[in-house]
Amino acid sequence: MGSADKKTIYWPLWSLVFVLLSLRCHGSCSEKELERREEEANVVLTGTVEEILNMDPVHNTYSCKVRVWRYLKGKTVVNGEVLLDGGNKVMIGGFGDPHICDNQVATGDTRIFFVNLAPEYMWPIHKNELLLNSSLMRITLRNLEEVEHCVEGKEKDFHDSA
Ligand SMILES: *[C@@H]1O[C@H](CO)[C@@H](O)[C@H](O)[C@H]1NC(C)=O
Repeated sequence: MGSADKKTIYWPLWSLVFVLLSLRCHGSCSEKELERREEEANVVLTGTVEEILNMDPVHNTYSCKVRVWRYLKGKTVVNGEVLLDGGNKVMIGGFGDPHICDNQVATGDTRIFFVNLAPEYMWPIHKNELLLNSSLMRITLRNLEEVEHCVEGKEKDFHDSA
């Protein structure tokens, strides 16, 4: 069998491997397990995207004004000027961040957001903003239960060691 024949055989195989790999890795982002994601985010909340703002045409990143429904974690972290429009909305930045796999929303989307307060080096642009820390999650009973389970696990450890 000539090498040309081998190529015809192997090429579809390699393409298949490539497709499977790229499906798994989503390019440059990598998804950590939920427990790690919950640990890294000081705030986890459910909310609905009301408005998309500050679109960066170069990096394709943007911020959103989000109406908060419920804090699954870190309610006390979110206070003062971070709260907008009478207290039930926040600004979340970092959408479109290529390190985050599921990083896109549209107005009206309701999601679970894993966020942190914007660190000081990102001020003044992101002052009083929360920043997306890992992938957006759809709101399903199962997802909510899994996130709550992670949060409660931490609280229990905390009380046990206190
Ligand atoms: C998420 O937060 C952690 C700190 O808890 C930080 O080290 C990490 O860089 C953040 N990830 C992103 C994508 O901002």
